[in-house]
Parts: sequence; structure tokens; C-alpha cells
Amino acid sequence: MDFLKELGIEAVNQSASWGQGYTDTQDAGVIESINPATGEVIAKVNASSATDYDKVMQEAEAAFEEWRKVPAPLRGELVRKIGNALREHKDALGSLVSAEMGKIKAEGDGEVQEMIDMADFAVGQSRMLYGKTMHSERPEHRMYEQWHPLGITGVMSAFNFPVAVWSWNAFIAAICGNTVVWKPSPKTPLTAIAVQNICNKVLEEEGLKGIFCLFIDTEENKLSQRFIEDARVKKMSFTGSSEIGRMVGVKVAERMGKSLLELSGNNALILDKTADMDIAVPAIVFGAVGTAGQRCTSTRRLIVHKDVADQVIPAIVNAYKQVKIGNPLDTNTLMGPLVDANAVKNFENAVAKAKEAGGEVLAGGKAIDGPGFFIEPTVIRAENHWDVVQTETFASILYVMTYETTEEAIAMQNHSKAGLSSAIFTRDMKVAEKFLSAQGSDCGIANVNIGTSGAEIGGAFGGEKETGGGREAGSDAWKAYMRRQTNTIFWGDQPTLAQGIKFDL
Ligand code: UN1
Repeated sequence: MDFLKELGIEAVNQSASWGQGYTDTQDAGVIESINPATGEVIAKVNASSATDYDKVMQEAEAAFEEWRKVPAPLRGELVRKIGNALREHKDALGSLVSAEMGKIKAEGDGEVQEMIDMADFAVGQSRMLYGKTMHSERPEHRMYEQWHPLGITGVMSAFNFPVAVWSWNAFIAAICGNTVVWKPSPKTPLTAIAVQNICNKVLEEEGLKGIFCLFIDTEENKLSQRFIEDARVKKMSFTGSSEIGRMVGVKVAERMGKSLLELSGNNALILDKTADMDIAVPAIVFGAVGTAGQRCTSTRRLIVHKDVADQVIPAIVNAYKQVKIGNPLDTNTLMGPLVDANAVKNFENAVAKAKEAGGEVLAGGKAIDGPGFFIEPTVIRAENHWDVVQTETFASILYVMTYETTEEAIAMQNHSKAGLSSAIFTRDMKVAEKFLSAQGSDCGIANVNIGTSGAEIGGAFGGEKETGGGREAGSDAWKAYMRRQTNTIFWGDQPTLAQGIKFDL
């Protein structure tokens, strides 16, 4: 694994970095970074201690005092340089993402590309932190709004997009004038350390510190608990399950902090009878099998028009047979392993529950013996109301069901606690428009003739209902990392009160 060296990862007991320094903590627990394709340890990481955590927070707080004074376009310059450094290390970092998380190399590289795109976007955005000006109702007054940074932005990211989701938050937060403290998933500490190493180098070259900081917590989440409750974290961006996200949201709200939640999805794809099957089938397979079904946008439910079900379901099952499963770093592989043994267990439990409910396994259904955490991509004929179908299982299981009317399909798609991503394949303009209308999909993402996963960074990413309501990445998602201030200035000689109030002394 030559890429480890390029990214500054030592073979054994890599120390977690805090700010630009490195902790020499050895007694806060050791995390083994496991290659899910082999079950072998890639490297070990010393977790951060409570003292390290305090140093991180102090450094990020001190850095904010200075960073907020830097003009936003110059803050963008720092992100530009980090984007360029990511370009240089794209291949190595893409390989590490693939090796540590298990997604195929093309997707690992794609994730780093998503970071680079995000950096470019943030650079542009740094010149466009626009506020509005309003016409005051009073003479000789000027009213406008401006956007100011919040302070420390916390980022708690998930294993499945171990680096891209950090960049969605971190780059935008940074150009907005915030400093960023990152707590990655304990399943993917090496990718976080590699990114921090890249940031550290750029920060050092620029004579800056504390703008991007990292601490590593173990599965016990002791420091994470402190982090969530820490009033110094003005914005907490959390990506993960709705179950944990609800807890994070409540804790942050209790201290009147702001949270940004990007939680579970249970994404459906509706296949209308007019759909172009040549584009629909590959999109369904990519959505359900890509990243071994471990995207929050993965296609989990396929709602097929009953007239085409007999034609299209065998075509999908046939396409599943072509999916090459294996070492994610091998360029021919289309599906890598799940992240760990627990994920395999969850997959097996879900398949068992679906069978118990009366589900018919049409493809896959089993874990694959041998080293690594591999499963067969699975298709199950199921019913929408079953508990297991209404539960997000982070593995490649596609539940297939049929419908008769478009209204029924939309109701089925919306019948979910989650509201992240949705898609319809149709050539019928009326059907497509209905799906996109206020009577249509209730999700944060709704696509036509494009699958549920693989969103571009230019749009705002996130979902409704138990998906948490947060929006990240593009569009005006930057506003979530700033505070709005309304300013009214009087420049005349005869002061007046709003609403025509007379208050003559
Ligand atoms: C996630 O799975 O947490 O839209 C994010 C997509 C990717 C991001 C997924 N761009 O599938």
C-alpha cells in the first residue's frame, strides 16, 4: 500500500492529529483500521484523550478570533490551495478511501473528486456571501443584512463518505469564517488523518493554524458526547443514522446551539411503464449495488408499474449476475465489501426478516464466506408496509414492489419516515411533473430519469422528515454556517420610529 506513505500514514500506531500538532497520547484507546476486503489491520491509531480534545477546542477557538478578520475571498484562497493539494493526492487518497472503507477505487477517486469540486465551489462562494438590502419604510434610513461567521463548526462524519462529507461542511464553513473541528467515524480514522495531513501542510505553508482540526474518538464516543454538549461548538453538522441524529439534535438544541442533520434515507425509485428500460436498469443497479448499498442515497425500494414488472425484474436480476464482487482496489470490481462484520450481521438479519414476512429472494440473499465482509447484492420481492422495508439497512438490499396508478406509487414512495432521495423513470411528461410537484415526492432530492444516488455538489444536499432537514454542499447551503445580522442606519436629522409610532418627549 504505497499510497499510505504518500499520505503520511505510518504502518503502526499512527497518532491522531489535533490542530497542526500531533498528540503523543497512548492511553486513550487504540483504534485498528481494518481493511474490510481482507479483515486485516491497515494501521493502528491512538485515539485522542480528553486533554487532546481541550487542546483542539482551544486552538480552534483562538484561530477563529483571527480567521473571522480575514476577508472571505482570501479565506477562499486557502481552500483553493487545499483543493489543489487534493488534486495532487487524488489517486493516493482515493485508494485509501477504497482500502479503509471498502468502496471501489472508482468511487474512492470519485469521492476525492467531490472534495475537489467542493473546494472549487467554496472558492467561488467566498466572493458571493450576499446579503440583501431593503428599502426602509422610514426616510433617510438604510437597511441591509450581512452574514457573519458563527465560530467553531463541528463535523461528525460517517464511514460511508469518510472524506467528502467533511469537505461539504469544512470548505463552506471555512470560507464563511468559521474554524472546523472534525470527529470522523472510528471505522475510518486513517482517511481523516490523511486529509488532516494534507490540510496541515497547506496551513503551515500559509503560516496559519487551527482552522481545520481533528480529534479521533473510539466507538465508546466519550469525547463525542462532550463535543455535542460543548457550547463552543456553534454549529454541529452530524451525518449518520436518524436514531443517533435525533439524540444529537436534542442535545445541541438544549444548549441553543445550531445543528445540521443529514440522517437516514429509505430511497425509492418509481419505474413507470413508459420508462426507457435501457437507462433505467443500469441506474437501478448503480443505485442499489453501488458502494455495496452503503450510501445514504442508495436505492432501497423499487416501485415498478405492474404492466412492466415481469419484463424488468428479470432484467435487473440478470444485471445483478454481471456484478463483479471482490477487492475494491481491483479496477474490474463493481462491488466491494461491507464495512465490517456487524454490517454483514445486519444484512443477514434484514434478509431473514424479509423472508419471515413473506418476501421472495430474487437475487443474492447471502453473506459470502471467506476473508472480508462481502455479501451478495440482494433483490427481494416485498411489500412496502413491512417493518424491514421501512427500515434502513446499510447494505445492498433492494425491495421490489408493484403499483397501478401514479398516485399510488407516489404515496408508496412517500410512505417512509425518511425523506432523502427519490427518483422516477418515465417518458410521460405529466407523470414526471406530477412527481416533482407539491403533490409529488416529499424528499429533499427528487430526480427524473436519474437514480437516487450520485448527486452533484452544486445542489443543496439533504432531506426531510427523519432525514433531519439539513442541507449541505451547494446552492445557498452556506447560510447554515453563518449568522444573519439586520442593520438599520439613520443618516438624517429628523428621527422617526417604525410603524409610524409617535413618542415625543
Ligand atoms: C452519503 O451517502 O452520505 O449523492 C452521501 C450521493 C453522494 C453523496 C452521498 N454524492 O450519493
